[in-house]
Amino acid sequence: MQLIQAKDYDDMSRKAANIISAQVIMKPDCVLGLATGSTPLGTYANLIDWHKKGDLDFSKVSSVNLDEYRGLPADNDQSYRYFMKTNLFDQVNIDQSKTYVPDGMEPDSDTACRNHDNIIKEMGGIDLQLLGLGLNGHIGFNEPASEFPKGTHCVDLTQSTIEANSRFFASIDEVPTQAYTMGIQSIMLANKILIIASGANKAEIIAKAFLGPVTPEVPASILQMHPDVTLVADEAALSVYLKQKSEMEG
Ligand code: F6R
Repeated sequence: MQLIQAKDYDDMSRKAANIISAQVIMKPDCVLGLATGSTPLGTYANLIDWHKKGDLDFSKVSSVNLDEYRGLPADNDQSYRYFMKTNLFDQVNIDQSKTYVPDGMEPDSDTACRNHDNIIKEMGGIDLQLLGLGLNGHIGFNEPASEFPKGTHCVDLTQSTIEANSRFFASIDEVPTQAYTMGIQSIMLANKILIIASGANKAEIIAKAFLGPVTPEVPASILQMHPDVTLVADEAALSVYLKQKSEMEG
């Protein structure tokens, strides 16, 4: 793993955006694997800025997203398609017919998941996959489990996730209870992985994921086995990792 230490959230965002930007410049028709969540917002903001300044052209880029809630239409402001449109796609010159998010409105989960895997295959795989890191070590919606899930699959959201999400909906009954997510194998097949993290609340899990044993109990720990992973994280997020690493090296 290559570690890039950033000062704070803004620095992390700029460094991560630089890596994505280099990918797009070096291979204009690349396939980007994209993530939602709060961590990539600053990264996307930089990419938009550089595009608007004329430095970055997304016209030949395709993208594939990690996950989507089952049952939410694209125009629901809580859907991940909506997130991507608002925070990136509508503000750069990407061809939106070449941006793929799992189809949350496909009621048959086998079809939705198979379609997403086929799209990734047909595109020739992912050149660069951007990942955020969950507090419990999840990547995509791959939660701690007894084994690593392979391809795109349907997951039941935990009660705590449903309750946490309920603040964004009129009532708890409207909160999606399931999501479609790329599996660990789909993520591991990406040529390059860029994982980003910021803030003290990610410090423990970064240390566990990158210094602890590789186990499906910490899904991100599998990234230790990937040949080309770059972690861009800020000082707060790296505090435990750096301390444990220097203790291990004596
Ligand atoms: C997002 C995703 C999630 C997030 C993770 C971290 O598409 O799949 O795994 O990357 O939950 O979220 P934030 O960035 O909000 O801390």
